[in-house]
Amino acid sequence: MEIISDPHDMQGRARQWRGQGLKVVLVPTMGFFHQGHVSLMEYGKTIGERLVVSLFVNPAQFGPQEDLGRYPRDLDRDARLARDAGVDCLYTPEPGGMYPPGYQTFVEVESLADGLCGASRPGHFRGVATVVLKLLNQVSPQVAVFGEKDYQQLMVVKQMVADLNVPTEIVGRPIVREPDGLAMSSRNTYLSPEERAAALCLYRALLAVRELVATGAKSREHILAAVRQLISATPGSRIDYVSLVDPATLQEVEAIQGEARLLLAVWINNTRLIDNTLLSESRLCCV
Ligand code: PAF
Repeated sequence: MEIISDPHDMQGRARQWRGQGLKVVLVPTMGFFHQGHVSLMEYGKTIGERLVVSLFVNPAQFGPQEDLGRYPRDLDRDARLARDAGVDCLYTPEPGGMYPPGYQTFVEVESLADGLCGASRPGHFRGVATVVLKLLNQVSPQVAVFGEKDYQQLMVVKQMVADLNVPTEIVGRPIVREPDGLAMSSRNTYLSPEERAAALCLYRALLAVRELVATGAKSREHILAAVRQLISATPGSRIDYVSLVDPATLQEVEAIQGEARLLLAVWINNTRLIDNTLLSESRLCCV
């Protein structure tokens, strides 16, 4: 596996691959790999001829009070895991290479990025859209693969790519969970054993809602009340947002008609976790 850190070298290698007619797939990450990342890599391997994984903890998507400084990092372990997953190239740019002195261009996606995580983390999606566009320009992949855990991020990136005519297909892949249901996240490493147990309230809330919907519940009021009740009964937890949205526009819906997405952001003491699930209208009965 090749490791490239210089954006110009990355562009050069991508140009070479394009010249050879190879299909390039990119999995963008911030590292500290877990099975969720590995599943994206394994999928990427099945659909392309050259698999690039970018590893860059992007300062532009962290707010001043957020966890940029303590975000977990372990390059040696990540390189081992990427090699084992069959990655051809681990791309590890430095902040100074991505945002050199004098850097002044940012990408802003409008309404899709406004609410939900965008409301709680001002500037976050501006940083994400900017770095993802830069990575797509540096790697020129035919396909880029993202996890659905960051569902709003996936939708923001799809919109940006469509709006700016970027010739890359954006593919979302299912959330990977721990055996007990907790969505895998590099931030799970922040949790103490007690907090780790409390963090299960997110998955429990999603399961409870899936059951409600299976028995015919549709209304936003009913669904959100059930989630709020379950989460607020968990010590140490504080809801950032719970939303029932149209899966394409991320606009709030009053009831599930066809499909809706339930999105959750919850603080477990000082750690903010997100999760989501797709809900399909039950044909059984109506509540
Ligand atoms: O999801 C992430 O890890 C990051 O937001 C991404 C897409 C790699 C951009 O920095």
